[in-house]
Amino acid sequence: MKVLVCTEPGKLSYTTKEIPQLQAGNTLLKIKRIGICGTDLHAFDGTQPYFTYPRILGHELAAEVVNSYDFKNGDTVTVIPYINCGKCLACRSGKTNCCSAIQVLGVHTDGGMAEYIQVPTHLLLHSQGLSLDELALIEPLAIGAHGIRRADVKKDEYVLVIGAGPIGLGAMEFARIGGGKVIAPDINPRRLAFCKDKLKVDYTINALNDDVTAQLQEITGGDMPSVVIDATGSQKAINNAFQYMAHGARFVLIGLQKGEIAFSHPEFHKREATLMSSRNATREDFDRVISAMKNKLVDPGNYITHRVDFDDVATQFKSWLDPANGVIKCMVSIN
Ligand SMILES: NC(=O)c1ccc[n+]([C@@H]2O[C@H](COP(=O)([O-])OP(=O)(O)OC[C@H]3O[C@@H](n4cnc5c(N)ncnc54)[C@H](O)[C@@H]3O)[C@@H](O)[C@H]2O)c1
Ligand SMILES: [Zn+2]
Ligand SMILES: [Zn+2]
Repeated sequence: MKVLVCTEPGKLSYTTKEIPQLQAGNTLLKIKRIGICGTDLHAFDGTQPYFTYPRILGHELAAEVVNSYDFKNGDTVTVIPYINCGKCLACRSGKTNCCSAIQVLGVHTDGGMAEYIQVPTHLLLHSQGLSLDELALIEPLAIGAHGIRRADVKKDEYVLVIGAGPIGLGAMEFARIGGGKVIAPDINPRRLAFCKDKLKVDYTINALNDDVTAQLQEITGGDMPSVVIDATGSQKAINNAFQYMAHGARFVLIGLQKGEIAFSHPEFHKREATLMSSRNATREDFDRVISAMKNKLVDPGNYITHRVDFDDVATQFKSWLDPANGVIKCMVSIN
């Protein structure tokens, strides 16, 4: 079978491997779609922490069952790409998303940029009538859905989602579905236009030119947002966002950066604020995304800005790193 390997930062090369021999508890899949995400782009440009090479990338997958003990051949599925140990405290408490020994497909272990892959059967989700494109979009949307579930968004709350990349957009969708009133600041006018035009976000703010605090005060009638979500992964944006919290607010960090976070303890204390991180997603979040898609509450057509055949990924990959190309989600097809 043909596979695409990231051999070192900046280098992708096609090679052939044996089709995996099915092991007990696993299912053999024929890959049909692979969504490209920031993690893949950072792995390619060498800025993804804890990444080792060579590695087969790809964790946003839609596939057809070829051989399984539990599924019918030909069933279409998506994969929860987080292989958890099942034994650690987090796993024992149902927090499989933050297993202390987690192995993410395409990050810690080889992923789906291949014609075939075998994965543990308990990590598969049946398509339930969703299209291949929809199936490959479930994982990135589940990341946002998980962050919003952590925030426990209530009806009519102002939810500030900072950063309108694919992850932030998913958080905005699930904040809206949860009844929140979404406010979206970004520094990229194209992404702000996307929020307004495609996602019908209630309020957008240009964080580069506008006075964000003044805008937030005006929008919320002086209350400020009771939920703040970071989806930038920018240290500066995160440190800055503490001042946007209402008293009693929750601040959820979906975005991730390498440095330390600094904030004023008295300001945090007087708000009795809650700070949370949000890592990956659980089956419950995946189910929530599937249900939202089935009920047409999210339109996957909004996300896919670029399409490419598996054979052309190696030559086109670099261009997706250029912000001028306006990539939200690039979708790879394999026949
Ligand atoms: N929680 C998880 O498990 C998980 C999973 C995947 C990705 N992530 C993280 O989520 C973050 C977002 O991922 P993405 O793929 O959407 O990234 P992205 O780079 O496509 O989007 C980030 C957005 O933030 C905006 N931004 C940057 N600085 C800003 C600032 N100061 N103010 C306002 N907006 C600003 C950018 O213009 C961009 O639109 C990253 O940190 C990524 O590592 C987390
Ligand atoms: Zn991803
Ligand atoms: Zn575990």
